[in-house]
Amino acid sequence: MSQFDTYLAENHSRFEQDLFEWLGMASIGTDSAYDEETKRAANWLADKFRGLDLATEIIETCGQPIVYAESPKVVGAPTVLVYGHYDVQPPDPLELWETPPFEPTVRDGKVYARGATDDKGQMITHLFGVESWKNTIGDLPIQVKFLIEGEEESGSAGIEEFLEGKYDKEIPVAEKIAADIAVISDCSQYGPGQPAITYGLRGICYYQLNLSGPNRDLHSGGFGGSVANPANALAKMLGALIDENGRIQIPGFYDDILPMTEREREQFDSLDFNNDDFAKDLGVTELTGEKGFSTLERRWSRPAFDINGMWSGYQGEGAKTVLPAVAGAKFSFRIVPHQDPQKIKAVLETRLREVCPPGIQMELVNLHGAPGFVLPLDSPFMEAASQAIAKGFDKRPVFIRAGGSIPIVNHFSSLLGIDTLLLGWGLDDDDPHSPNEKFTLADFHRGIKSSCHLWEEIAKIEVGGRKSELGKEP
Ligand code: BES
Ligand code: ZN
Repeated sequence: MSQFDTYLAENHSRFEQDLFEWLGMASIGTDSAYDEETKRAANWLADKFRGLDLATEIIETCGQPIVYAESPKVVGAPTVLVYGHYDVQPPDPLELWETPPFEPTVRDGKVYARGATDDKGQMITHLFGVESWKNTIGDLPIQVKFLIEGEEESGSAGIEEFLEGKYDKEIPVAEKIAADIAVISDCSQYGPGQPAITYGLRGICYYQLNLSGPNRDLHSGGFGGSVANPANALAKMLGALIDENGRIQIPGFYDDILPMTEREREQFDSLDFNNDDFAKDLGVTELTGEKGFSTLERRWSRPAFDINGMWSGYQGEGAKTVLPAVAGAKFSFRIVPHQDPQKIKAVLETRLREVCPPGIQMELVNLHGAPGFVLPLDSPFMEAASQAIAKGFDKRPVFIRAGGSIPIVNHFSSLLGIDTLLLGWGLDDDDPHSPNEKFTLADFHRGIKSSCHLWEEIAKIEVGGRKSELGKEP
C-alpha cells in the first residue's frame, strides 16, 4: 500500500478520460496543415498545468511553441526538470490503422492512438503525478519544472534556439530552467512486467545524398553502357558503406568508440532475451548485424547504418527503359558514445568521394546529428528512480540501454550540467512511428504512481555540486 493509492483509485477513470482527450488532438508538429490542432494541444496542456497552480507559460519559438510550467522552489531540496514532447509523428499510412489515429480506442487494455506512447501518453503521467501528490499530501517536496516541446519529432529547432538564448532580457534560459536532474519518459520498459531504467542511448547522424549524371533522362537502350547511371552509382556507393559482416566500411568510423565494460556485457547477457521470438515477432527469417555482437548489443551499443529512403528512375506501373538523370537517398547512422557527428561527416564524405564513379556528381547534405551517451549508474538519482519504480510497478527495474536517440539529453548535460533519468513506461512493441501505435493502460497508471514516488524519493537527496557525468563509463 502507498499513501497515494486511494487518490489514484478514485481518479483512475478520470485519468484515462483526460488521456483520451489529450490523444484526440492531432498535434502533428511537422505539418503546418495541423498547426491549429498543435496549438490546441499546447493550450490544453498549459491549462492543465495552470489548474495545478503551476506558474505556466506558452513560449513562442521559431517553430512550434514550448509549454513551460514550474512549481515553487523548495529551499534545500532538489529541482527536477521534466522534459517531454506533445508533437506526434504523422500517422500515415492511414489505411493501415484499425481505428483512426486521433480517435483513441481501447482494445485489450491498451489505448490505440498516434502519440499514445510517443510521447503524449508517457509525458502526461508526470502531470498526474504532480496532481496526485498535491491532492494527497499538499505542496510538492521538491521543485518540478516542466519543459514540453512541440517539435521533437522534426528536429527540435525551436527548443534548441530557446535553450541557447535569454529567457527575458536579463536571465539566460539555462538559469531559468536550472535543475539538479532531468527526467524523461519517452522510451520503454525492458518487457511486459519488467520495468527498466535506460542509462544509455545511441546518437544519430542523418544525411541526404544527391547524385546526378547526364543532363536529362535517357533511353537506356540508346545510352545504357556508355554513360554513368546515377541509380547504379547510388546502389554501388551505399553498398560500399557496409560489408557482409555488418561492419561499416568507412576508415576512421570506429576509432573513438567507448568500448563496453565487461560488467556491462555481463549485464546485457543476464537479461532474458530470445532471438527466435524476436525474429518471429518481426516476421523475419533470420537476424543479421555486426558479427561478434549479440542482438541487444547490436541494437543498443553498436553503430548501425540504415537507408531511410531512396529514389531514382521509374516507379510507376509496368516497365520503362530509362537511364535516369538523378538519384538520391536519405540515410543515417546510429552512433554510440564518444563518436563525434562532425568527424563522422568528414570521414563519410571522403569515403563517398572515393567510391563515386566517374561521370557522377555528388552532393552530401547533413540533415542533423547528435552524439550518443551513457549515464552513470551509481548516482543517488538512479537509486531514487529505482525505488520509485519499484513502488509504482511492484518490481525493481533492470538497467538497459536503448537504440533510439533523444538529442536534448546532450544539451541538458552541456548547458545545464545535469544528467537525465530516462524512465520509460512503454513497451518495445508499442509501435511508435508506425500504424496502430498503442500504450498499455496498466503501465500508464503504474507510471503515474511511479511519478508520485519519484518526487518523494528525490526529495531525500542532498543537493549541491554534482555535475553531469554524461559520457563517462557507466
Ligand atoms: N522516443 C523516441 C526516442 C527513443 C526511441 C528512445 C526508442 C528509446 C528507444 C523519440 O521520440 C524519437 O523518435 N527520436 C528520434 C530522434 C531523431 C529524430 C533526432 C529517433 O530516435 O529517431
Ligand atoms: Zn519519436
